[in-house]
Amino acid sequence: MYAITGITGKVGGEIARSLLADGQSVRAVLRDRAKAADWAAKGCAVAIADMGDAEQLAAAFSGAEGVFILPPSDFDPEPGYPEAKRVIDSVTSALIKARPQRIVCLSTIGADAPHDNLLTQRTLMEKSLSTIGLPLTFLRPGWFMENALWDVAAARDEGVLRSFLQPADKVFPMVATKDVGRVAADLIQQNWTGERIVELEGPARVSANELAQTFATVLGRPVDVEIVSRDSWEGLFRVQGMKHPLPRIRMLDGFNEGWIEFRDHGRSAVKGNTPLLDVITALVAGSKSA
Ligand SMILES: NC(=O)c1ccc[n+]([C@@H]2O[C@H](COP(=O)([O-])OP(=O)(O)OC[C@H]3O[C@@H](n4cnc5c(N)ncnc54)[C@H](OP(=O)(O)O)[C@@H]3O)[C@@H](O)[C@H]2O)c1
Repeated sequence: MYAITGITGKVGGEIARSLLADGQSVRAVLRDRAKAADWAAKGCAVAIADMGDAEQLAAAFSGAEGVFILPPSDFDPEPGYPEAKRVIDSVTSALIKARPQRIVCLSTIGADAPHDNLLTQRTLMEKSLSTIGLPLTFLRPGWFMENALWDVAAARDEGVLRSFLQPADKVFPMVATKDVGRVAADLIQQNWTGERIVELEGPARVSANELAQTFATVLGRPVDVEIVSRDSWEGLFRVQGMKHPLPRIRMLDGFNEGWIEFRDHGRSAVKGNTPLLDVITALVAGSKSA
């Protein structure tokens, strides 16, 4: 049995569907009882647990052959990352108590970055889980193609893609969440010892220009890239309600300046096969017009 956290989200949902399709039994680990019925209907056992509650998590992981850890996102973390650390402590102690045969933890490109930034939250998770001494895989995907959801309205309604990734022709490692979930499902069914790191990106790297062009193709209208100048980011993020924009700004710097990168620029990264066009098509289809 595989215990899957984050199952009501994009990656967790995909790993669970892939495991079920492979004939495996799945325990859906979720915090919101109202979302349990869908997964029960698919044949999953259900455990209710918050990622910050070690006891609930230990019960949810007990008897599992494999556990998939999806750390919750926090785009506006307080200095010192106290919330991420709370989750790290509870996940670590739950895994020590439950001792599953193996663990796959969703991490990220940049978990090994040399400078503090938003992704440092995953550096800390990796460091803590590494002490447990169980077979462990850190899956480090690139930038999710689904982040382009933020761009749908402006592309559709204004014909503009406002890009924080820059310059416009620089290509970045991106991957569809479908590929992340599928690869995670393959990894968790393997047997290995010790710790391994698996980097993952999509079939081809993507620039802001290509993102805009793909929106144009899907929407049937021109879409132009507008570079959002770095000196406007802090004010912009604060207007959007962020209280601690620096970690996010430094993450964007890391991508743009190249210090958030795969170890060999992705040459040995696993490659997903979902093209950007499929993801943008689905995002546009799922969005409502203004
Ligand atoms: N965006 C990127 O470019 C990128 C790149 C690399 C790695 N990642 C990593 O990918 C992960 C996000 O994956 P995703 O896009 O699949 O996320 P998602 O669709 O936003 O889903 C998040 C999941 O986490 C659950 N969750 C959140 N807080 C929780 C808590 N306190 N206790 C229990 N469950 C909780 C949510 O449950 P509810 O349904 O109850 O809310 C949901 O199932 C993050 O770890 C992020 O660091 C992202």
